[in-house]
Amino acid sequence: MMQISPKFLVAAALGALLAMPLAQAADVEQGRQKAEQICASCHGKDGNTPIDPTYPRLAGQHRDYLRHALIDYQTDQRKNPIMGAMAKQLSRADVENLAAFYESLPGTMSHRR
Ligand code: HEC
Repeated sequence: MMQISPKFLVAAALGALLAMPLAQAADVEQGRQKAEQICASCHGKDGNTPIDPTYPRLAGQHRDYLRHALIDYQTDQRKNPIMGAMAKQLSRADVENLAAFYESLPGTMSHRR
């Protein structure tokens, strides 16, 4: 019979704790759902076909940049009446999920590393 040592249990519990924030950091599928509910009407379902040529393409943009832009709209560091209103209804988790979702879409604006 294999003995499970207390040290192993502590390590396993710590590992699970450390893994949690990462696992919760971004959920592309939740991002997709939110995007279809709110964002697709302007930015296009694929993040690449905005309803107006002056609206930016989000597909394939870097996650860091998208997150930064959304937080700036929330805090009025970046001022835009439309996006300000959109961003202010998002939770911090929504922002992470949406940034991860749009980054995951094939875009024309950035290169895959
Ligand atoms: C009613 C139309 C509309 C909706 C809905 C909308 N957006 Fe936007 N979005 C815009 C416009 C217009 C801009 C350009 C604003 C500016 O010049 O700062 C923009 C800009 C952005 C930018 C900045 C992109 C860049 O390249 O700097 C991000 C990120 C963004 N939107 C994300 C979202 C997300 C995520 C949602 C859904 C929660 C959403 N938008 C919903 C119209 C919309």
